[in-house]
Amino acid sequence: MKNHDITTTPFTDPDDLENNVSSNRHFSDVLSAGMSRRGVLRGGLGGAMAAMFAPLALTACGGGDDTPVAGPQTATPESLLGFAAVAKTLADTNSVPAGYTARVILACGDPLFTGVPACKNDGTDTDYDQRVGDNHDGMQYFGLSASGQRDDNSSSRALLAMNHEYIQPLMLHANGPTPNPRPASEVDIEVDCHGLMVAEIIKDGAGVFGPVVNSAFNRRVTGMTPIELSGPARGNALFVTKYSTDGTRTRGTMNNCGNGKTPWGTLLTTEENWSGYYFRAAGDQTKRTAKVNASFSRYGRGVTTSNASSRYGWETAGADDKYQRWDTSQTGTSLDGSDDYRHEWFCQGFMVELDPYNANSVVKKRTGLGRFSHENAAFGLPVVGKPLAVYMGCDSQNEYVYKFVSTENWVASDANAADRLGVGDKYLDSGKLYVARFNDNGTGEWLELSITNPAIAGASFGFNDPAEMYIHTRIAADAVGATKMDRPEWVDVHPTTGELYITMTNNSSRRVAPTGTQTLVDAPNPRGYTDTFNGTSQQSGNVNGHIVRFKDASPEGTSFNWDVYLFGAESGADAALINLSGLTDDQDFSSPDGLAFTRSNGLCWIQTDDGAYRDVTNCMLLASIPGTVGDGGPLTLNHAGGVSVTTRMGAKPTANTLKRFYVGPAQCEVTGLCETPDGKTMFINIQHPGESTSAANLGDPSKYGSQWPSIVGYGAGQRPRSATVVITKNNGGQIGT
Ligand code: FEO
Ligand code: CA
Ligand code: CA
Repeated sequence: MKNHDITTTPFTDPDDLENNVSSNRHFSDVLSAGMSRRGVLRGGLGGAMAAMFAPLALTACGGGDDTPVAGPQTATPESLLGFAAVAKTLADTNSVPAGYTARVILACGDPLFTGVPACKNDGTDTDYDQRVGDNHDGMQYFGLSASGQRDDNSSSRALLAMNHEYIQPLMLHANGPTPNPRPASEVDIEVDCHGLMVAEIIKDGAGVFGPVVNSAFNRRVTGMTPIELSGPARGNALFVTKYSTDGTRTRGTMNNCGNGKTPWGTLLTTEENWSGYYFRAAGDQTKRTAKVNASFSRYGRGVTTSNASSRYGWETAGADDKYQRWDTSQTGTSLDGSDDYRHEWFCQGFMVELDPYNANSVVKKRTGLGRFSHENAAFGLPVVGKPLAVYMGCDSQNEYVYKFVSTENWVASDANAADRLGVGDKYLDSGKLYVARFNDNGTGEWLELSITNPAIAGASFGFNDPAEMYIHTRIAADAVGATKMDRPEWVDVHPTTGELYITMTNNSSRRVAPTGTQTLVDAPNPRGYTDTFNGTSQQSGNVNGHIVRFKDASPEGTSFNWDVYLFGAESGADAALINLSGLTDDQDFSSPDGLAFTRSNGLCWIQTDDGAYRDVTNCMLLASIPGTVGDGGPLTLNHAGGVSVTTRMGAKPTANTLKRFYVGPAQCEVTGLCETPDGKTMFINIQHPGESTSAANLGDPSKYGSQWPSIVGYGAGQRPRSATVVITKNNGGQIGT
C-alpha cells in the first residue's frame, strides 16, 4: 500500500518504514563460501512445464454443477502467454491485450444490500458498513453451487472475499477530511470503509459476472466488528482492555493487505500497517514497562514527536468508547489495563481467518502465526500425514520472511469439513514459528522462534513466556539473526513444484555504501542504485524491487535453497547493476507487490504498486512462466567503491516467458488477483486510482489524478474509486493462453 497523511503529502508510503535497528548480519558480512548449491538443480523449463500440468495435489469439494474444464491438461507451452504484450501507458483506463475485455464491478460505495441508497460518489454517501469499502486489496474466489453450497469447482457463482486496506479520505467526504479534532460522522465512515467484504457474484444469461445485492452471504467486517483472539496468546495480559477484560476479544481488523486461502475453504487476511492507527501520548513511556516500550519502538509506536499522532485522528472524535479505543496510551489507574485501551495496540498485527460461507461466523485472529506487518499467507502444498506450512512476509524495510508449521498433520478429509473454523483451530492455533536466514551460497535456514532457543532465552529483551513469541515476534526474530530483506510483500506457492515466490517490493534504505542506519547490499538483496523520476527527482536504494524464490526441504524442514527469480527494472537501465534480468519494453516493471499463481494453468502473475516508474507507466499486471530454483547461477555485481556482491540469479526471462498483460488507470495499484476454477475469468483489484489528487482540486474533475472508473462508463460521479475488475477473453478461452 501507499498511504497519505490525512490532509497532505502524496507519495508517502508507510510501508517504507525502518523500525529494525537490530545488528543482524547481512550477506556481505559473510565471506563468500563458494559452496555449490545442494540438490536444487532440477530440469530446465521443460521439466517445470511438465510438472506444471500434472494434476493438482489438492482438490476439495467436488460434485459441482459446472463441468470441470480440462484447460491445464491440454495447454502447451506454446499456447501460454498467447497474447500480445500491452505497452506501458499513462492512459486512465483498463489496458488489456487485443481479444480481452475488462469490466468494473463492486466499486467503493456500491450498496451490498437493498434499502441502501445508490452510491452518489460525491462525498455524501454514508452507511459504509453496508457498502463496498475502500482500497480493495487481496481477494480470493470461493465457488458456490447453483443451490448455494460451497463448490470449489464452480465457475459461474461465487463469493469474492477481499480486503479494504485503508482509505482515500479526500474522496470520502464532500470537501475532504476535516482536520483534528475529527467530526464523529467522518470517523464513522472511515472506520466502516476499512476491513473485509464478502460479496456474492453470479453469471447472468450472457455469461457475465455481476454482484448479487442483498445476498445472504454478503458481509462487511469493519474496524468495529467484534473479533476473537485465538491461539497461543489468547487471554494474554497484553490483550486485556476495557472492551475485553479477559483478553480474548478485540474489535476490527485493520489495514488488511494481502491474503491467502486455506485448504479447508476459508480466507486468511493480514493486518499490515496497523500500528499507525493508534495515538500514543507524549510521556506515555514513563508509565510503561521497559519491555512494553521496547516493543512499541520495534513496531513503530515509540513516543517521538512524529509518532505522537495517529494516522487519521480517530481518537479525537469524542469521549465515546469507540473513539477512545484508538488511544493506546495508559489513561486509567488499573494495574491490568482493564479500564483503558493501553493494550489495544497489542491486539492488532495478526493473521486473521474468516469463513466466507457463513455471514454470521466469528472472525478469528490466529495469534500463533505471529504479530508483525503481515503481508499475505501462502500454504505449502498439503501432504497427507505431514504438518501444514504457511509462508508469510513482514512488509517494512529490512524485515523478515516467516514460516508457521502446524502441530497437527494434514488429514485430507479436513478439506471438506463442515466446521471450517474448527479446522482452522486445529491447524492454526498450535504450531512452531520460524524466521528465515538466507545464506550467501544459495542455501537458507529456518530459525525457530522458541523460548528454548538460547538466542531468544538470552536476549536482552528478557523473553520469559512462550506467548511472547507471538506478540513481540519481530524482537524474537532479531534475536535469532534473521536476514533483513527489501520489504517482503506477497508470497505464493507454485501449484505443482511447491516452490515459494515472494516479492521484495523495494527498499529505499538499501545502499552500496551505507551511511547511518541504511542497510548494506547483500546476496539476496544485491542492488543499490539511484533512479531519476520525471527527469528531476531521484530515488535511491533497491528502487525497483525483485522477486526471491525458494525451495523448502519439507513443510517442517529447517533448510531451503533460494535464488532471485526476477529483478524489476526499467528496460533501459544498466544491464550489469540494475536490469539484471534483461527486461525488454514488453516486460519491464517496478515494485512487484501482489504475486499469485493461477491454479488453472500454473502461470505466475506479478502485480505492481509503484512510485518509481509512474512517470512512464501506470501500475500493471504481468504474466510469467517461471522455471525452478537454481535454473540460473551465481551473478556478481561489481558496485562502485570496490563493493562486490555475488547473488544467485534465476534464468533470465524470454519474450515467451514474461509479458505485460494489463496496465491499470492513473495512480493506481494493481492487486488482488484470483480466477474462476476454469481459468476463463480473472478478477483483479484496482486500488487508489488518482491517489495524488490534491484537496485544492476536489471541485474540478479535470484536475483529478484519475476519473476511473467513471471514465470507463462505470457509476455516478467523477471521483476516482477503488473497484474490482473482471477480465474475460472475447472467445471464451482461458486467460493468458
Ligand atoms: Fe499493503 Fe505491503 O502493501
Ligand atoms: Ca508500495
Ligand atoms: Ca501489498
